[in-house]
Amino acid sequence: MKAIVYRGPKNVAVEEVPDATIQAPTDAVIRITTTNICGSDLHMYEGRTSVEEGKVLGHENMGVVEAVGDGVDRIKVGDRVSVPFNIACGSCRNCTEGWTSFCLRANPTEGMDGAAYGYANMGPYDGGQAEYLRVPWADFNLLHLPEGSEHENDFTMLSDIFPTGWHGVELSGFQVGDRVAVFGGGPVGLMAAHSAMIRGASEVFVVDKETDRLALAEKYGATPIDFSAGDPVEQLMQATGGRGVDRGVEAVGYQAHDSDGEEHPELVLDNLVQVVRATGGIGVVGVYMPEDPGAGSDLAKEGRIPWQFGTFFTKGQSMGTGQAPVKRYNRQLRDLIIDGKANPGWITSHELGLDQAVEGYQHFDDRDKGWTKVLLHPGS
Ligand SMILES: NC(=O)c1ccc[n+]([C@@H]2O[C@H](COP(=O)([O-])OP(=O)(O)OC[C@H]3O[C@@H](n4cnc5c(N)ncnc54)[C@H](O)[C@@H]3O)[C@@H](O)[C@H]2O)c1
Ligand SMILES: [Zn+2]
Ligand SMILES: [Zn+2]
Repeated sequence: MKAIVYRGPKNVAVEEVPDATIQAPTDAVIRITTTNICGSDLHMYEGRTSVEEGKVLGHENMGVVEAVGDGVDRIKVGDRVSVPFNIACGSCRNCTEGWTSFCLRANPTEGMDGAAYGYANMGPYDGGQAEYLRVPWADFNLLHLPEGSEHENDFTMLSDIFPTGWHGVELSGFQVGDRVAVFGGGPVGLMAAHSAMIRGASEVFVVDKETDRLALAEKYGATPIDFSAGDPVEQLMQATGGRGVDRGVEAVGYQAHDSDGEEHPELVLDNLVQVVRATGGIGVVGVYMPEDPGAGSDLAKEGRIPWQFGTFFTKGQSMGTGQAPVKRYNRQLRDLIIDGKANPGWITSHELGLDQAVEGYQHFDDRDKGWTKVLLHPGS
């Protein structure tokens, strides 16, 4: 089968790889109809992870069940399904408590809880930027979707970024009527903004410097803040009459940079601590790493980020972090889509075949104007 394979920094290739097969009785194999490129893939693409060459990429997957193992009885061949990016066993302590993003059994990597498809340190699993994908513990992991092809571009956001944006808002301690500042106007930040609006925020700000992304955020109801036009904290303070916001969402990650493009991994955390009111909350879904050998400073290479913890403490703020447990939210978010109350597909900018994935990676990585979210359709 054809798949997108990591070949080194800034180098992915469309290659023939062995077919995805049933390897355990609880597996299913999915024929991929849509698989997205994620900002998380770009950390690998830019050579800023330890991902091995030859890895098949892709953790944002949906499709139709092609085959199931003997131990699968809820999921049937022909079912249309969304595949959460987390691979979870369903029976360990973290899974049974709803923390599928920290499954204790799916990832054999020493010191890492939680597994995913096609991702650095997240276990030996191939990704779904391919014609087919093997899904472990299929009965537990897969989410049924209505038959056919309706809402394809909305449902494809259920595997990761819509639940992740929702989780960022949840981790911030959001309550109805809150004012929210989302840092990062990429797909995850836009989904956090969409989630906050659905949940009844009084005002949502989106901070970025990419004018096309800010325009999109504004079009869908958020107030854009361009950090290249001046200090985003000052702009947000001014926009809120000096009060700041109740909640902040970090949707940027460890490659946060200033308007000249220079990386400062503490920058967004500092901005959030300053702009969130005392006793407010911060949800961090942008990825930070235990080690980052490619970082600019010795501290950051060791995964140490000197942010304003003293101000954070003094203001009595709270913070939640980590990979999103997609399964905790995807059923409800699917039903909001079906009822017309959520339409996350609005962020889609490009739909490409697998053969065009190389250019998709290049343009998305360069944050070229208009390249907001790239969907790949292997069958097209
Ligand atoms: N926790 C999870 O489960 C989870 C899931 C998916 C993605 N992620 C992570 O979320 C982050 C965002 O993902 P994405 O797909 O939206 O990526 P993206 O790279 O497309 O978007 C990041 C955006 O942040 C902006 N940015 C950079 N520096 C900034 C700053 N100082 N202030 C404000 N904005 C700034 C960039 O211009 C860009 O538009 C990544 O770190 C990704 O790995 C986490
Ligand atoms: Zn993703
Ligand atoms: Zn588990």
